[in-house]
Amino acid sequence: MSDAAPRPKDNQGQPAPRLEGRLKVTGEARYGSDMPVSNPAFAFLVTSPIAKGTISAIDLGDAKNVPGVLDIFTHENTADLKILSYSKGGGGPSTSIQNLGPKIQHDGQIVAMVVADTFEAAREAAYKVKIAYEAETPSASFDAKGASESPVKSKLPQAGDAAKAFDDAEIKFEAEYGTPTQHHNPIELFTTTAVWNNDELTVYEPSQFMYGLKNQTAKRVGIKPDQVHAVSHFVGGAFGSKAQQTPRTGLVAFAAKKLNRAVKLVATRDQGFTIATYRAETRHRIRIGAGKDGKIKSFQHEGWEVTSRPDDYSVAGVEDSARLYGYGAVKTAVTMVHADRNTPGFMRSPPVVPYIYALESAMDELAAKLDMDPIELRRINDSMKDATGKQWSSRSLMECYDQAAARFGWAKRNRQPGSMRDGDWLIGWGCASAMYPTHIGAAAARVQFSADGQAKVQVAAHEIGTGVMTVVGQMAAERLGIPLEHVRVELGDSAFPPVPVAGGSNQTASCCSVVMKACDAIIAKLNGSTTGHAQTVGSAASPGLGEKFARLGVSTLEEYAEFVPPEAEPNKVAGLFTGPIKKLYEGTPTLVGGSKGEKLMYALGAEFVEVRVHAETREIRVPRIVGAFAAGRIMNTRTAHSQYMGAMIWGVSSALHEATEIDPRNARYVNDNLADYLVPVNADIQEVDVILVPERDNFVNPAGVKGIGELGNVGTAAAVANAVYHATGIRVRELPIRLEKLLT
Ligand code: MOS
Repeated sequence: MSDAAPRPKDNQGQPAPRLEGRLKVTGEARYGSDMPVSNPAFAFLVTSPIAKGTISAIDLGDAKNVPGVLDIFTHENTADLKILSYSKGGGGPSTSIQNLGPKIQHDGQIVAMVVADTFEAAREAAYKVKIAYEAETPSASFDAKGASESPVKSKLPQAGDAAKAFDDAEIKFEAEYGTPTQHHNPIELFTTTAVWNNDELTVYEPSQFMYGLKNQTAKRVGIKPDQVHAVSHFVGGAFGSKAQQTPRTGLVAFAAKKLNRAVKLVATRDQGFTIATYRAETRHRIRIGAGKDGKIKSFQHEGWEVTSRPDDYSVAGVEDSARLYGYGAVKTAVTMVHADRNTPGFMRSPPVVPYIYALESAMDELAAKLDMDPIELRRINDSMKDATGKQWSSRSLMECYDQAAARFGWAKRNRQPGSMRDGDWLIGWGCASAMYPTHIGAAAARVQFSADGQAKVQVAAHEIGTGVMTVVGQMAAERLGIPLEHVRVELGDSAFPPVPVAGGSNQTASCCSVVMKACDAIIAKLNGSTTGHAQTVGSAASPGLGEKFARLGVSTLEEYAEFVPPEAEPNKVAGLFTGPIKKLYEGTPTLVGGSKGEKLMYALGAEFVEVRVHAETREIRVPRIVGAFAAGRIMNTRTAHSQYMGAMIWGVSSALHEATEIDPRNARYVNDNLADYLVPVNADIQEVDVILVPERDNFVNPAGVKGIGELGNVGTAAAVANAVYHATGIRVRELPIRLEKLLT
């Protein structure tokens, strides 16, 4: 046991090391573009230097003369590629802008792809492709001339008469907040390798959803899903950027078919900024009406989010901000602002990162206005039901605050801004809540168990770094009563039974729930039970295991199981009339949970940050962060600790470092590289302390797992902003907080 592998407390699993850890650190793990294929040709993309306009002419003469060039694909010879209709769900295309022209709808749109015998030849030729454009003036973002607004149409939370309650309140608080464009930048680039064997296509691509990749690729190139085999054994980071189908996949598959040769594409870092998705900039207006005692009578949250011209992508995190506390009345609204941009998409904790930043900044401001400790303000408004009357399945928010505050030493804080100082450094202490909806989806799994006590689990899940391979193995080992070393877990292949997209932090809950079911069915067979339920779990591998198999006359039992959460049953989900398992096989996951069901299901946490702001230079440092989190059953304290630690570091990054700058004149990204797109390095991050608060919740799903992949970076930015205020007395309401914003 160590800081990185905490001793398990109640309802927490052993800190087993990652099953794939050795493969990763020794370089043996094969990522999509590492997969060996015979005689590959290499592709290089050409992307648009304008954000809006039309291609008027293409001259491929010089490019085709580069030795080794096999073919060049443009809008003139790719009309057979099908255009898929956009849908925001996890399995759909990332954008409706899939054409290579002639219409240009965003900076960096793919306009051509060169394929050559070598990467170098493809790259050289790509720079010799001459494309003429008729450019128009684009709208870059908020406030741009020509940007258009449309309301989010889904039903957003409303309760009581929030406007009147605000007018009547003793204390009124109102403020606006903003968050910038951010890009995921996983270390592994966006790659696709396509190999045809007659009419059968194999796609190697880092993916968060094997069945989405399989089905969408089939549609794009006009073949049946059965003809596509998608493989994604390891993913070098994704964070939402590899959840949806991007236009490149179909293009590479199309080229491979035409050339009758394997084609491999590894897009460049800067291309990744425009050929995939990103976190869109948001704006918020929050109004809170409260009593002098701090009790909130009215909460109003309006959001604005940038999206592309054609696609209605929004995250609408008012769905969550409107539930966090027991407000009296609630009014929410979200507006999309359409600009000449690539379509944004999921990025770690998509709805809650921006919306809870705004809410938790506002809570700190309200506490200051009330001259109240900010933890006390949360305690006063802590409630087991929301303003609409819906009950929480479990809620350990204040327990998280209490444990984190004790570890942090919050009691020693002087509330007065600017009152704590160490030489030239102004010290600020801030805190904020974290929340993430608990999602679960229909899933399937196959488990084999042999008389020698060895098991094999197959699920088309995705090891994007979360530790899912290990925790699925732990669940199988527990239910079958065998050591983890006897379980082999196979993931990342569309030949295995489908599980939902590795998004919305559902994967551990969904995979563990279905793997439990398959294992329990095996134990029931071994125990001669016909009920389909395990009589005794954990006893199968007793010395009698061989006899139990012998009695059944077999040496191996195999179970295929399907799990459907009750609220995902047909007819319970709008528009879903066939079974969710059938939908899943067709590439559409059905995720339920959060605020949508019978009860509010959320994981919660509290984060505390110390900042030091230099009195003269205004340099901002974060010497320590403490986070306490409660998320139901924790399968593995090591992987959980790692998820929370990484997420809080990202939260600091989001507060102080990250922003994709866009040139308002031409709607182009300026800092589309890892030198200019700032992320924290080791020197920026010092102490990160994670507390795993025990919690049990048997309502959320059979595994009792709430999901933690996205919880930890929610609230961090607000905690940093609140600490900066405490240090300096300056309230920064627009992220990132950089030193120029603290020069007075
Ligand atoms: Mo995560 S952004 O829901 O893939």
